[in-house]
Amino acid sequence: MEFKIKSGDIAKAKTPCLILGVYDKRKLCAAGDAVDKASDGALSALLKKGDMTGQKAGCLVAYDVAGIAAERVLLLGLGKPKEFDRGAFDKALAAALKRLSEIRVTDALLALPEPPAGMDLYRTVRHAAMQAAHANYRYQQTKELAKDAPPLLRGLSFWVEGKAEQAVAARAAAHAKAIGEGVALTRELGNLPGNICTPGYLAKQARALGKRFDALSVEILEEADMEALGMRALLSVSRGSREPAKLIVMHYNGAPKRKDPGKPIVLVGKGLTFDAGGISIKPSEAMDEMKYDMAGGASVFGAVLAACEMALPIDLIGVVPSSENLPDGAANKPGDIIKSMSGQTIEILNTDAEGRLILCDALTYVERFDPAVVVDMATLTGACIVGLGRHPSGLFTPDDKLAAEISEAADAAADRVWRLPLWDDYQQQLDSNFADMANIGGRDGGAITAAAFLSRYTKKYPWAHLDIAGTAWVTGKEKGATGRPVPLLSELLIRRAGVDT
Ligand code: BES
Ligand code: MN
Ligand code: ZN
Repeated sequence: MEFKIKSGDIAKAKTPCLILGVYDKRKLCAAGDAVDKASDGALSALLKKGDMTGQKAGCLVAYDVAGIAAERVLLLGLGKPKEFDRGAFDKALAAALKRLSEIRVTDALLALPEPPAGMDLYRTVRHAAMQAAHANYRYQQTKELAKDAPPLLRGLSFWVEGKAEQAVAARAAAHAKAIGEGVALTRELGNLPGNICTPGYLAKQARALGKRFDALSVEILEEADMEALGMRALLSVSRGSREPAKLIVMHYNGAPKRKDPGKPIVLVGKGLTFDAGGISIKPSEAMDEMKYDMAGGASVFGAVLAACEMALPIDLIGVVPSSENLPDGAANKPGDIIKSMSGQTIEILNTDAEGRLILCDALTYVERFDPAVVVDMATLTGACIVGLGRHPSGLFTPDDKLAAEISEAADAAADRVWRLPLWDDYQQQLDSNFADMANIGGRDGGAITAAAFLSRYTKKYPWAHLDIAGTAWVTGKEKGATGRPVPLLSELLIRRAGVDT
């Protein structure tokens, strides 16, 4: 989808559909007033008839409005001006996008109202464009769209006043396009079934990305390479599967553009392409959804793609340990003890706690990059969903400053997180009689003990962990991947890069 920025006399703007905000009660936004004047009061006459009051997310399409170039006008209810915040904006946008689809309009011009409370022009444009991109995604690789399916939106333009505003809006639209593409890639990978999206498939996608961008180099470590590095924790999970594990390393070097390149930012994502639980097998109900257990890895792909598209001046390394977790004669058994790359031994008490096993070796591996920061993303625990529900991702880090940085970026990107404690008190739940640690810590605080496990492998750099089990996927009738936390990661990268917003 194309995003464009337009300016000038709005009455003369040629578009199949001009979207104008209306506040409760019947108050047109500034652009609406200009159109109303040009049309000799056609809009206010229409509003007087009472078909629409400006109620939140109401829509009214008007045709043949005299005196303007637009083919039709969509009056969009924004609710009460005082209550116009991001949530209200979201609802209005969703309603407008739905109506455009129903009337089969594929190109529209949105005259922005005043930014919602707490947002500036950049945020408003980026948020609206992201939402349009999100609504425009269709999964099609194994299911064709119905012949009579409503067409997708091809273009969305934003009308703004003033030169400086145009530049800000253009930057916001470009960022939204890049991040939106990252989100779409992450959703697509998450939606693909386990028999297509294998570790080998992910490695192939990484290589393809590497071909697309000069600044991106890709290296795939095979099982023999991992063996040589001593990644026995990761390999123990993969042993129960016929698909060879891959360790995908994507290095985007946009830092030459910067005088002092500094240390790299490292993203690590769990790439478990199907999690049956292994010998500690999961119940069958909804087991199909465990194809999204690679969503953390997919979000690394999405964030790397977004960084490439925005040409951010940063040094970014994305690492995705990828494997399946299946029951098999060679699979991990409860009671097995393995030695991780770090040298620490692990007693596997539950083979379904495999994410931490593949992540711990990847987290040790990234020490070699001397990272400025490492953020890992993983659909790590059902306990995180029990604790926080499906709205925020769980944030874990011993570093208060990093916690604040990530929380702020998350709020700005409308991709929220909630911090949970990572106190030493929890560590003893991982005690084992036979190894340095067990791979599970019992029922209490399951999301926290999983993070506590990872914390034992991340002592050499600033580190944060995001448990995205509840946020990367929507269950139920509309089930599918959400693309989170790509918006958050992209925001974090934009801020670290220091580019204008
Ligand atoms: N991939 C799952 C976690 C998960 C559960 C993600 C539900 C998304 C939705 C992970 O590998 C797992 O099985 N975790 C176990 C850990 C337990 C054995 C300590 C869990 O959450 O039950
Ligand atoms: Mn599992
Ligand atoms: Zn898993």
